[in-house]
Amino acid sequence: MERFYITTPIYYVNDVPHIGHAYTTLLADVLSRYHRLLGIRTHFLTGTDEHGQKVYEAAKRLEISPQEQCDRTVVRFEELWKRLEITNDDFIRTTDPRHKGVVQEILAELFERDEIYRGDYEGWYSVREERFYTEAELVDGRSPEGSEVEKITESNYFFRMSKYQDWLISYIGENPEFIQPEFRRNETLGFLRQPLGDLCISRPKTRLPWGIELPFDSDYVCYVWFDALVNYISAIGYRHDEERFASWWPANYHLIGKDILTTHTVYWPTMLHAMGLAMPRTIFAHGWWLTNDTKMSKSIGNVTNPMEMADKYGVDALRYFLMAEMSLGKDANFSEHAFTLRYNADLANDLGNLASRSLRMVERNLEARIPAPDPTRLGAAEEQLRAACLAAVEHMEDHLTGMSLDRGLAEVMSAVRAANKYFDQAAPWKLLGAEDEAAFRTVLYNTLEALRIISGLLYPVIPEKMRELRRSMGLPEETLEPRLEQLRSWGGLEAGTALRELSALFPRIQRPKKKADPKATSKRDAPPGIQWIKYDNFARLELKVAQIRSAEAVADAERLLKLQIDLGDETRQVIAGIAAWYQPDDLLGKKVIALTNLEPAEIRGIRSEGMLLAAKKGKTLRLLTVDGKLPPGSGVS
Ligand code: ME8
Ligand code: MG
Repeated sequence: MERFYITTPIYYVNDVPHIGHAYTTLLADVLSRYHRLLGIRTHFLTGTDEHGQKVYEAAKRLEISPQEQCDRTVVRFEELWKRLEITNDDFIRTTDPRHKGVVQEILAELFERDEIYRGDYEGWYSVREERFYTEAELVDGRSPEGSEVEKITESNYFFRMSKYQDWLISYIGENPEFIQPEFRRNETLGFLRQPLGDLCISRPKTRLPWGIELPFDSDYVCYVWFDALVNYISAIGYRHDEERFASWWPANYHLIGKDILTTHTVYWPTMLHAMGLAMPRTIFAHGWWLTNDTKMSKSIGNVTNPMEMADKYGVDALRYFLMAEMSLGKDANFSEHAFTLRYNADLANDLGNLASRSLRMVERNLEARIPAPDPTRLGAAEEQLRAACLAAVEHMEDHLTGMSLDRGLAEVMSAVRAANKYFDQAAPWKLLGAEDEAAFRTVLYNTLEALRIISGLLYPVIPEKMRELRRSMGLPEETLEPRLEQLRSWGGLEAGTALRELSALFPRIQRPKKKADPKATSKRDAPPGIQWIKYDNFARLELKVAQIRSAEAVADAERLLKLQIDLGDETRQVIAGIAAWYQPDDLLGKKVIALTNLEPAEIRGIRSEGMLLAAKKGKTLRLLTVDGKLPPGSGVS
């Protein structure tokens, strides 16, 4: 493979980036950095998706132009990528002239060739997802994603996607690497078992003026997905710099989340095929970051802000956690608890300790210079350590090709543990006491050599800290960012090289200890944080199953919702501070648990007769609900 072209989705410019967006971009960054270590010419593209309804609406609310709105919000992404040490080679915005021009040229050509035609359309449109559904696709009158849809009839332009269905099925069949992981490939094949319709690629300006104008009909703009997908080729010079384009296309990887599988594995390939272009080698869909097993998403309000995590724990720690914690393809839970555990175990204990113990020892006892090993002192233990480190290099390469980065990192961590074990068993402090200096030098040389290879392997994931570590080991400036070649053989450290200052790499994160509650009254010992109460106190609470009949926002109180809850024999009004987590519509019909013998209260001048039970952790709040059929008014015990 002589070059490597990798892309991320272009994110909706309106959204505030969260851990999920950060993850895809980080993954692309880490893969790009590894390919650069391999000496492969690499191009890494990310960007923002700037047309469509949501930007238009937001701009209208703010009374600014949609372009102004894009320019204001794109910085959230630009700044985050800078903060996270993302090394993208290009950043494309769909409002860039270089992009808009290409989309129009493609539209004109496809229209000319009758790949695009005008027709009437009747369908169900979801504003939130900006896409149409057929009647058959709806689930309980909503989109399969659960959003509201409205029926729309209008004249539009269509791409003849249906005629490529058979071609696509056989292409996917013949190219197992095209859609990965394999279960996603099966998902797309499953989708293709139904007849594929033509794709509506226009929106009348009367409904949505913010988009790329169709070159053959100025009453229409281009459908956002037909516009957005083209970024992958417009950015590298399609139709404008054929030489550059040919040097990167087809892409090696389109990295995406599983939410946008169909657009990337059905729309995009048929579009490319109609244009006469080669298919990207692999479309890889990773899983979701969840908070307490629920998808992290802005509309649920359970998102973690990557900027805050980076400020609190450091960029490198965040990069390492995200890469090590998620098995590529599967979902993973994000929590600060898991973050702290992994950080303390892998980075503070295993890696950080190894580095500081060995470097300090050289500093104190060997005049801060890399010692020369004694070849007569190399035994089975040294051989094992060497093998563990070189195996990690090989494994990492395999795991990169196999897209199992988390396992590659686990292999590197096992080399770190092998080095710690070697160090502990050789016990250099004892050798110093026994005045066996040759053995002492040998143990330290080998430990540092292991660190040279390990720090090189971890460089793409934790670049700042590994640069620091490698500098303090005295490695020359130009090899601080290593080539993988330099990690494939043992003995790269040069005896006599002077060490440089090392600051603490990964200070342990102290978890706050819970203080014992002095008010605890129980005779029996309660676990920390628990205070026993008498059963009577609990029995005094009247808890009932309540069904939410209506929900609405409360004027001038953005946290509050006004609810009418059905308790079987009566309906009550409750004011709940849950607007940050629930849209009124999401609540209709939900069966929740209400505390019903609470004294009525006035909240913002509105009467509230009860309270809903909810669970809360960090920034996430979820109402307690009933997991089966039970009429409103049922007692809770
Ligand atoms: O869909 N876990 O943009 P978008 C993991 N503009 N990854 C997540 C995630 C989560 N909880 N949430 C988001 C769009 N992502 C279109 C794309 S491409 C031509 C146009 C990541 O802002 C993941 O990569 O909604 C997902 O596919 C992407 O963000 C969606 O970003
Ligand atoms: Mg999305």
